[in-house]
Amino acid sequence: MPDSLVLVTDAEGVRRITVNRPDKLNALNAATLDALQAAFDAAAADAAVRVVVLTGAGPKAFVAGADIAEMADLRATEGRDFSLRGQKLMRSIEKLPKPVIAMVNGFALGGGLELAMACHLRIAADTAKVGQPEINLGLIPGFGGSQRLLRLAGRSATLELCLLGAPVTAERALKLGIVTRVVPVAELEVETAKIAAQLAASAPLALRATLDAVNVGGECSIEEGLQYETAQFGLMFATDDMREGTRAFIERRKPAFTGR
Ligand code: COA
Repeated sequence: MPDSLVLVTDAEGVRRITVNRPDKLNALNAATLDALQAAFDAAAADAAVRVVVLTGAGPKAFVAGADIAEMADLRATEGRDFSLRGQKLMRSIEKLPKPVIAMVNGFALGGGLELAMACHLRIAADTAKVGQPEINLGLIPGFGGSQRLLRLAGRSATLELCLLGAPVTAERALKLGIVTRVVPVAELEVETAKIAAQLAASAPLALRATLDAVNVGGECSIEEGLQYETAQFGLMFATDDMREGTRAFIERRKPAFTGR
């Protein structure tokens, strides 16, 4: 029985999804993309899951890229299909109706950085290195990297990372706006767990509306984005959680959100 390509565990509303090919630095082959797609589809459908933490097995890598050995012999149409498979996964992570945290425990290169960028928050170990080295293979990013890095960090950083292909440190990635936070590697688990616990106790419908508003706003005019925000804001007044959150503030107690 081969080891699972993706490991899934649950604890107190936090679903942890681990890419599990440590001997290949968690490189994404087609089977691993499919296993990740199934894991994220299941997380989206399960109301008990409030937040997802995504990471890579082993001490060295989050994900060191798309699987180069698998790509080496692909024909053009197969390369296109591999790109579409990866892009579909990244898009479904980005559009998941609950927050996804990438716990970047080492190399996040190529498809690995693309995977991390599709997540909503990126907590990186100070030892992590991130980059888009596809150019060194005669390739370009194929799982959305040229587009998400551009939106996250701007044209200058995107062209530097994609044209030169050299990885940058976690600290530099933080300065460029690519990662959310950098923590000492020994504290990565505990710091990520704290953020995950905060999100797991937060109001699920408001989290979802926030993700929706930011996703929509990234792709439309300011007028359309503002209208969308207003619609989502208004919708929150129909939720029990909004009544609970405002009452708890007035009564000086912690809110107990139910997701209704
Ligand atoms: N695809 C397939 N296999 C990969 C891989 C990838 N993207 N990245 C690492 N591996 C494999 C290596 O081939 C090696 O396998 P082997 O032991 O069977 O030979 C194993 O993972 C360990 O990698 P190794 O290169 O020996 O580790 P290292 O510590 O010397 O170097 C890296 C680490 C990340 C610098 C190096 O593995 C690397 O450059 N990987 C490719 C990064 C890349 O170009 N990603 C974008 C792909 S589009």
